Amino acid sequence: MLLVVKMGGSILKEGASSDLVTDLKALLAENKAVLVHGGGVEVTEIASKLGKEQKFIMSPEGFRSRYTDKETIEIYSMVMAGKINKQIVLAMQSQGIPTVGLSGLDGAILKAERKTRLIVVDEKGRKRVIDGGYTGKINQVNTDLINFMLEKGYTPIVTPIAMSEEYEPLNVDGDRTAAILAGALKADRLILLTNVEGLMLKGERIPKIGASEVKEVLGSIGAGMSTKVHAALEALNQGVGEVLITSGAGKNPISSALKHETGTVITRV
Ligand SMILES: Nc1ncnc2c1ncn2[C@@H]1O[C@H](COP(=O)(O)OP(=O)(O)O)[C@@H](O)[C@H]1O
Ligand SMILES: [Mg+2]
Repeated sequence: MLLVVKMGGSILKEGASSDLVTDLKALLAENKAVLVHGGGVEVTEIASKLGKEQKFIMSPEGFRSRYTDKETIEIYSMVMAGKINKQIVLAMQSQGIPTVGLSGLDGAILKAERKTRLIVVDEKGRKRVIDGGYTGKINQVNTDLINFMLEKGYTPIVTPIAMSEEYEPLNVDGDRTAAILAGALKADRLILLTNVEGLMLKGERIPKIGASEVKEVLGSIGAGMSTKVHAALEALNQGVGEVLITSGAGKNPISSALKHETGTVITRV
């Protein structure tokens, strides 16, 4: 199987956990994987140390995102493609997993259309239009380079930064990047690793839910998880067999989710 695994920034504080890497190594004996990572919290911390307080905005659909101006995209690129990506590459390689770390800029893996304007809502629910900054919507994936690396036995680790038509770096959401990559690569499974057990409704983990069913409860899912569910729907729409949302902590986090022992499975029907 081809797996696309997104590691949430929430689980990457000390790099990838050794249980996670061990699990991945075992899975790679019979499968191939492409990893995408997050890291928002660390970007915010380092930006703050540099004296650049981060601003977050909320879309009318309830997506929370970083307001990415010129200085912010530079800090974002340094922390994500530099520090975090390389920590994961080292963690994998220390376990004997051949790994290539890259951002969407490298080999033009991810091309995106820059968002010129954004609609945001304030705490009082009032809508405003602001400049889009350095954020974008992915519209093209260079699957060739990724497939080439996979064929040669390398596991690519992708930082969610895309290239604009004007050759600028753009901040793109990690969950959606993973979903788009999974669709473009015709992956069998998309696995979203996070810091909660899975999709929770009324305080309980939902073990399995279909796409149409989950659409009905979207309104009651909070920020963070709602982005994952939207990403899951996008991946299923693009032909991915199943999406698993699960905790990245604990023993064998990926393989137990693949066996439906933990997490939330989102199915096409
Ligand atoms: N219904 C829900 N079920 C599970 N988590 C939820 C739900 N609604 C909101 N969340 C939040 O979503 C968070 C996961 O998203 P996020 O913080 O962006 O982590 P990541 O770094 O993995 O993307 C959880 O920690 C939780 O606080
Ligand atoms: Mg998130």
